Amino acid sequence: MSSFRSLDILNDLTGQTALVRVDFNVPMENGRVSDDTRLRSALPTIKLLSAKGAKVALLAHFDRPKGKIVPEMSLRPIVAPLEALLGHPVAFAVDCIGEPARLVLDGLKPGGVALLENVRFHPGEEENDPDFVSQLAALGHIYVNDAFSAAHRAHASTEGVARKLRAYPGLSMSRELAALDAALGTPRRPVLGIVGGSKVSTKLDLLRNLIDKLDKLAIGGGMANTFLYAQGHPIGASLCEKDLAETARDILAAAKAKGCEILLPIDLVCAEELKSGVLSVVRRVDEVAEQDKIFDAGPLSAARLTSVIDSVATVIWNGPLGVFEVPPFDAATVAVARHTASLAKAGSIIAVAGGGDTVAALNAAGVAQDFSFVSTAGGAFLEWMEGKPLPGVDALKIG
Ligand code: 3PG
Repeated sequence: MSSFRSLDILNDLTGQTALVRVDFNVPMENGRVSDDTRLRSALPTIKLLSAKGAKVALLAHFDRPKGKIVPEMSLRPIVAPLEALLGHPVAFAVDCIGEPARLVLDGLKPGGVALLENVRFHPGEEENDPDFVSQLAALGHIYVNDAFSAAHRAHASTEGVARKLRAYPGLSMSRELAALDAALGTPRRPVLGIVGGSKVSTKLDLLRNLIDKLDKLAIGGGMANTFLYAQGHPIGASLCEKDLAETARDILAAAKAKGCEILLPIDLVCAEELKSGVLSVVRRVDEVAEQDKIFDAGPLSAARLTSVIDSVATVIWNGPLGVFEVPPFDAATVAVARHTASLAKAGSIIAVAGGGDTVAALNAAGVAQDFSFVSTAGGAFLEWMEGKPLPGVDALKIG
């Protein structure tokens, strides 16, 4: 079995520079950071290395400048909020390699922190170009990756440098890997997956991987319509990928063969249009009318799912059960999220969730903090749930 080095066992790092890959690809509004979750998650690692006397050189990307200098995609606006959170000055280097980076790092005292400009201003970053990797690696003595959310990219700063220097997962990365392992790697059983979202087509790999690993899988959101249609249920005028009916039937058959119980909605909340506060009706799964559009799982489905949650040891959740942004179609997601969170908070289950919409839904239900772990990684969380290798994690493995 592979394992990882641990930052905790490092002694005094005075005289050494730690190259730390963080994910500062944060939401910005009018040039200001509007959600600093990713900055906060990097703090423990930065503080630990700084306390051990290392110079901390932060490598990060912002947006997708495609190998060119795009001034609006500079990381400079991150400096002030990072300084405020750290309570410590942060130097800024206008380039992540060469003289500008070297001069700034030379100027740091032991324990000092510098943010280097967007690594994606260089084409060598996304190409994982060996010359660019060498230029990055030349700046540091050790490498730390604390950016799980960028670990699905085999780029120079996420993968290449990890293979050149002694490489460690950062504290947030380690926490995330442990939580994900507890949910899908070596979970307490039975394990229930809850997968929602609008389209089956975007989650085919994920469904196929999950039916291999889970004991039960609840499917919700618009993608449930395709499964209901594939089973011959009426879905009215609802969103549905009719061309995927055969694929949906294959997935149901494969799940049965593997002993993974699939839970589809047994009742549905329908309306004629998607509008906040619109008149809605609850229909049994066989009673959806021609003009109906399905926007949420019904109360019976939510109640059945909460009782299934009472019978499992682990829940892993990706995707809302309905159009939670538009009330009243948030009801099933909110009810199931609150129930899951209360059990997780009481320590009776492990509940891990991830994906942009899911985090927003749990925040809207006011329960994200009660889950055992909520991943803010988008693509990386999805690829991990699909069972795909994460190059940025694989490069940190030893043995
Ligand atoms: C993210 O925001 O999900 C990560 O920073 C990855 O960004 P990318 O999709 O541009 O590689």
